[in-house]
Amino acid sequence: MLPTTALLLGLTGTALGFHPCQRIADKVSSATDVHYSGSSSYVADNEHYATSSEQASKCSVEPGSAEDVGIVLGILGKTKTAFGVKGGGHATNQGFSSTTGVQIAMTRFNEVTYDSATQTAVIGAGNVWEDVYEILDAQGVNVVGGRVTGIGVAGLTLGGGYSWLSNQYGLALDNVVAYELVVPNGTVVTVTEGSDPDLFFSLKGGGNNYGIVTRFTLKTYPQGAVWGGFAAYNASYISAFTAASVKFCSEVTDPKAGMIIEYGYTSGQMFYDGPIPPDGIFDEFLAIPALALDVTTRSFFDLINGTVPIVDASTGYRTVYNHIPTLEYSASNIEDVLDELNYWGPTLSAHGAFYVDYAIEPFLPSLLTHAPAGSSAYPGSRDHVAFPTNVNLQWLSESEDSVFHDGARQTVERLSAEGESIYPNYAIYSTPVVDMFGEEGVKKMEATRQRVDPHGVMMLTGGFKV
Ligand SMILES: Cc1cc2nc3c(=O)[nH]c(=O)nc-3n(C[C@H](O)[C@H](O)[C@H](O)COP(=O)(O)OP(=O)(O)OC[C@H]3O[C@@H](n4cnc5c(N)ncnc54)[C@H](O)[C@@H]3O)c2cc1C
Ligand SMILES: *[C@@H]1O[C@H](CO)[C@@H](O)[C@H](O)[C@H]1NC(C)=O
Ligand SMILES: *[C@@H]1O[C@H](CO)[C@@H](O)[C@H](O)[C@H]1NC(C)=O
Ligand SMILES: *[C@@H]1O[C@H](CO)[C@@H](O)[C@H](O)[C@H]1NC(C)=O
Repeated sequence: MLPTTALLLGLTGTALGFHPCQRIADKVSSATDVHYSGSSSYVADNEHYATSSEQASKCSVEPGSAEDVGIVLGILGKTKTAFGVKGGGHATNQGFSSTTGVQIAMTRFNEVTYDSATQTAVIGAGNVWEDVYEILDAQGVNVVGGRVTGIGVAGLTLGGGYSWLSNQYGLALDNVVAYELVVPNGTVVTVTEGSDPDLFFSLKGGGNNYGIVTRFTLKTYPQGAVWGGFAAYNASYISAFTAASVKFCSEVTDPKAGMIIEYGYTSGQMFYDGPIPPDGIFDEFLAIPALALDVTTRSFFDLINGTVPIVDASTGYRTVYNHIPTLEYSASNIEDVLDELNYWGPTLSAHGAFYVDYAIEPFLPSLLTHAPAGSSAYPGSRDHVAFPTNVNLQWLSESEDSVFHDGARQTVERLSAEGESIYPNYAIYSTPVVDMFGEEGVKKMEATRQRVDPHGVMMLTGGFKV
C-alpha cells in the first residue's frame, strides 16, 4: 500500500496542499494571485457559461503579467499538472477551458488600447467582447468579434470568429495583426505574419495548442450607429417565419445586413451596420406579430449588451453545441432542419430537454475572400463558404449527458454537407481535427506544435489537439 500512496502523493501533492499551486504562489510576482476553494475569486475563475463545462480545480491562478504566465507554464510543465486556460468561459465542451488541476483565468489581461495611427487595437486576452465594444465605440471604431454578451475575445478569435461585421471584414481571425504569446518554455514572443508565418497560420484556428496568448492586436474599422436587436415569435407563425428566412437567405446581398435565425425558439437577431436598414431587407420579419421585439437604432455596444444569451450558467443548464456545415439555406434545407427539430424536440423532451435549437447563420458567398487562401488553419479551405449552422441542446441532468451528446452527433450526421470544414468553436469534443483544418493544415500545425512545444506542455490542457 505504502508505495502506491507515496506515488500518488508525489504526483498530486500532499495532505497539506497541492504542490503546484503552492509552488506557483511562491514563484510569481505580486501582480499574480492564487486562489483556493472558498474564495469568491476562485468561484469566478472556475465559472463557465454552461454548468456542464465547469469543474472544481485545485486552485485558480490569475496571472497579472506575461512573464508570470511563463513561470506558471514552466511549473505546470515540470510537474506534469493538468490545467485549464479560460478567457470568457464559453467553451461548450468540458475540459476545454476547465480542469480538476490548476485553473488559469486571464481576467487581469483587460487592456483595450486603440491606436489611430495604425488603425489597430491591442486587446488583452481576458476581455469579453462587450467590454471591448464599449471602449472602442466611444472612440468611433470597432473590431470583428462576438454577437452576444459574455463571449471571450481569446476563445472566439483563436477558433475562428463569426461576427456581425464578417460580411464586410471576414472572420475575427482574419483581423489579427499580431499575437503576444507565452510559449511553453516561458518566453514571451510577438507572432506576426513576418516573424513566424507557420505559427501565425496555426494560431488562426489552433486554439490553445501553442501556448497562452496574452494580447491580440486587431484591425479596427470606423463604427457609427447600428440598427437591430432581438425578435421572438409564436411558433404558430412558423410558415411566415420560414418564408421570411428563405427570402432573407436567398435575396439579401447587402454586406451590412446580418441575421441569426433560430428554430426551436422561433426567434431572430437582426443587424444592420447603419442607423436604418434599407427597405426590403427585414420587412417580412417585421411584418410578423412578435411576442417580444427589441429592434431599434442604437450603438454597437448597446446592441450587443442588450443581447443576453437565453440560458447561462447561473440557470444551471448543461449544454452541447455541434456544427452543421450548410452550403445553402434553401426552402428545402430549412424544411430539413424543421424535420430534425420536430424529431429531436419531442425525443429529447422525454429526457428532460430544456432547449432544442438550430441557429441558421446566413453569410454572403464573399465571406472568406477578406483574407488570402492559406492564411489561416481554419477554415481548411476558402474555396467557398459553408454556413455555420449550430445545434444547441440544453438539459438539466448529468445522467442524460450521453443521450444529448449522441443526439447532437446524429443530427449533424443527417444535416451536414459532406467534406466541409467543421468550425472548432461549435464542434462537439469528439470531432477529428482533420475535419476542421484539412490534412495539409494539420500537418503544418503538428510540425509547428513540435517546434514550439517539444515537451507537450499544452497537452496537459484540454481542447482540440494537433
Ligand atoms: C452563448 C454563446 C454565443 C456564441 N456566439 C458566437 C458568435 O457570435 N460567433 C462565434 O464565432 N462563436 C460564438 N460562440 C462560440 C465561441 O466562439 C466559443 O465558445 C469560444 O470558445 C468562446 O471563447 P471564450 O474565451 O469565451 O471561451 P473559453 O471557454 O474561455 O476558451 C475557449 C478555448 O480557448 C482557449 N483559450 C482561452 N483563452 C486563451 C488564451 N489566452 N490563450 C490560449 N488559449 C486560450 C481555452 O483554453 C479553450 O480551449 C458562442 C458561444 C456561446 C456559448
Ligand atoms: C400562440 O398561438 C397559439 C395558437 O394561436 C395560442 O393558443 C397561444 O396562446 C399563443 N401563445 C402566446 C404566448 O401568445
Ligand atoms: C449592459 O447590460 C446590463 C444588463 O442588462 C445593464 O445592467 C447595464 O446597465 C448595461 N450597461 C450599459 C453601459 O448600458
Ligand atoms: C523558447 O521557445 C521559443 C519558440 O519556439 C524559441 O524561439 C526560444 O529559443 C526558446 N527559448 C529557450 C530558452 O529555449
